[in-house]
Amino acid sequence: MRPMGLCLLIVGMVWGGVVVSAQQRLTQWDGVYTIAQAKRGEPLFMDKCAYCHRDEATGGQQILITPAPPLSGPGFSSHWNDRSLEQLLTTIVATMPQWEGGTLSRQEAADILAFILQDSSYPPGAVELPPDTDMLEVITFTDAKIP
Ligand code: HEC
Repeated sequence: MRPMGLCLLIVGMVWGGVVVSAQQRLTQWDGVYTIAQAKRGEPLFMDKCAYCHRDEATGGQQILITPAPPLSGPGFSSHWNDRSLEQLLTTIVATMPQWEGGTLSRQEAADILAFILQDSSYPPGAVELPPDTDMLEVITFTDAKIP
């Protein structure tokens, strides 16, 4: 196991000098993607995800036997609460688009995830959401913003 402090220090440096102490956690509220990245993810989302999860990522496509769940809103954020963005990205890469899991690269999935975060109005930042496991593991998805 890598020492947590070192990990956070590296992330702190990567995220534009934001100092992240051991007490704080980096979350999706801290500006972990860029507007340009979400723009790159948007056409991919529209092409590969929207026909099930719909344009505003609200989910609920009716013609499917299992309706696709919303990718925004309280159901989504409570489901992913306290899990890392690595878990979310891995789930997307492994299982989505449904029946075509494993077809997206981690970079494509990171760009799509940036769009999904923007869609939920989580703030953008100065540095792109990285596709790397080490980096994503230290960003936690939290339901409520930690003051
Ligand atoms: C053919 C329909 C379909 C397509 C296309 C599709 N999904 Fe899904 N998605 C589903 C269904 C159904 C579920 C719920 C069952 C499951 O998890 O397998 C789901 C679940 C998910 C979840 C987990 C949601 C949660 O709260 O657990 C995520 C994240 C997700 N999809 C993202 C995506 C992304 C990103 C794309 C595009 C790359 C995509 N999906 C494309 C049907 C689809």
